[in-house]
Amino acid sequence: MPDSIFADSRLAAIYDAFDGARDDLSAYLDIVDELRADSVLDVGCGTGCLAVLLAETGRRVVGVDPAGASLEVAKSKDPAGRITWLKGDATTVSARNVDLAVMTGNVAQVFLTDDDWARTLQGIHTALRPGGYFVFETRRPERRAWEDWAADAAEVTLDVPGVGLVEQSREVTDVSLPLVSFRYTYRFLADDAVIASDSTLRFRDRHEVEASLAAQGYRVLDVRDAVDRPGREFVFVAQRTT
Ligand SMILES: C[S@@+](CC[C@H](N)C(=O)[O-])C[C@H]1O[C@@H](n2cnc3c(N)ncnc32)[C@H](O)[C@@H]1O
Repeated sequence: MPDSIFADSRLAAIYDAFDGARDDLSAYLDIVDELRADSVLDVGCGTGCLAVLLAETGRRVVGVDPAGASLEVAKSKDPAGRITWLKGDATTVSARNVDLAVMTGNVAQVFLTDDDWARTLQGIHTALRPGGYFVFETRRPERRAWEDWAADAAEVTLDVPGVGLVEQSREVTDVSLPLVSFRYTYRFLADDAVIASDSTLRFRDRHEVEASLAAQGYRVLDVRDAVDRPGREFVFVAQRTT
């Protein structure tokens, strides 16, 4: 079950507003160009921000996400129906012969167990064409992002078009490395509704990610810095080898 922040329809509708400017996505568009990928699978596409940008460049795009409410938001941004939207995850997409699979927004951290992560890597491997690429990011554990999250508990209030004022607060609820849990709470001022969403993320170090990729039939071509978040994330560029 995806977290409420993605799966609850009221929270999915305000997700983009609270996520803010997506300065991270232009680096992915550059990588898609660099790898000459004509077809892209966006795993954990969420509200479809990257998928829509890719479709605008004329590429064949498939977006998959288990959160139906987020997919509805994504579909509303694609009125011409250029993108194939799938409700599911990497284990359900099957062979698609795509040039590239991506996971933006630290989707890689939602897979808490080694088995879940291995199954995801296997599913993406199946979806890729032979020699296809897999590019994704994950936060560097040594950067200890959760300490910043805990220190910055300031409430954020936004006036979301069509929704009205919404207050958001964040609380780190548990740190049991490599797992970190946190709760977002939203209050919709229009009707005083309060909806909370609990999440847990897994922080994998570089060696662990590289070993897991090798074990599932990928070669790591490069490990980069996220240009918009220097020192905070690893961006893995991997290629299907088997
Ligand atoms: C932080 S959001 C990122 C969404 C999108 N990639 C972006 O950059 O805007 C994480 C996404 O992962 C999705 N997710 C959760 N569990 C998943 C799974 N098992 N497989 C694929 N995606 C999953 C959530 O539904 C959510 O849309």
